[in-house]
Amino acid sequence: MLDELRKNMKSILSDRRYQHSLGVEQVSYDLALIHGEDVLKASIAGILHDCAKYLTDEELLQECDNNHIEITEIERKLPNMLLHAKVGAVYAKKKYKIADESIIKAIEYHTTGRPAMTKLEKIIFIADYIEPNRIMIPNIDYIREVAYENLDEALKISLKQTLEYLEGKGQLICPKTKETYDYYVNQ
Ligand SMILES: [Fe+2]
Ligand SMILES: [Fe+2]
Repeated sequence: MLDELRKNMKSILSDRRYQHSLGVEQVSYDLALIHGEDVLKASIAGILHDCAKYLTDEELLQECDNNHIEITEIERKLPNMLLHAKVGAVYAKKKYKIADESIIKAIEYHTTGRPAMTKLEKIIFIADYIEPNRIMIPNIDYIREVAYENLDEALKISLKQTLEYLEGKGQLICPKTKETYDYYVNQ
């Protein structure tokens, strides 16, 4: 199963994106093992999380239309950044025949997170941030260390840095990311 999914991802994603997906798969597996989550579910969600990232903005908007996915104002402005997660969740279900809803949700929320995330959702979110190909992220080794100890703590740091990065670049920020951060800071 995983081999088949890897082959699929290799054939549709750029090499860089494919290597990233393999990295997320591996780190998701490790985090699942350490934190007592299902390693197969984590691996599947990890390898598939960016399965719609190769689509253009127009294609993502079109796919949302085709699949009756609601689009928020900010998602319409940043389709590549935000909608690849929602469309990816639909692809996982329809194209890759993933029936497990917890895997679908982990893909759907891998970019913004959401308040009260499941363990699997946290694992994919964090793995996406710290996988070995991510080398430009500040404090990356520290966050990796934290992730193997405490998922919520790693989540908070990742969200905080993501928000700071986007603010620093003057980029639009999805309210969901902010909402997730506020939720975990006030935990
Ligand atoms: Fe992504
Ligand atoms: Fe990713």
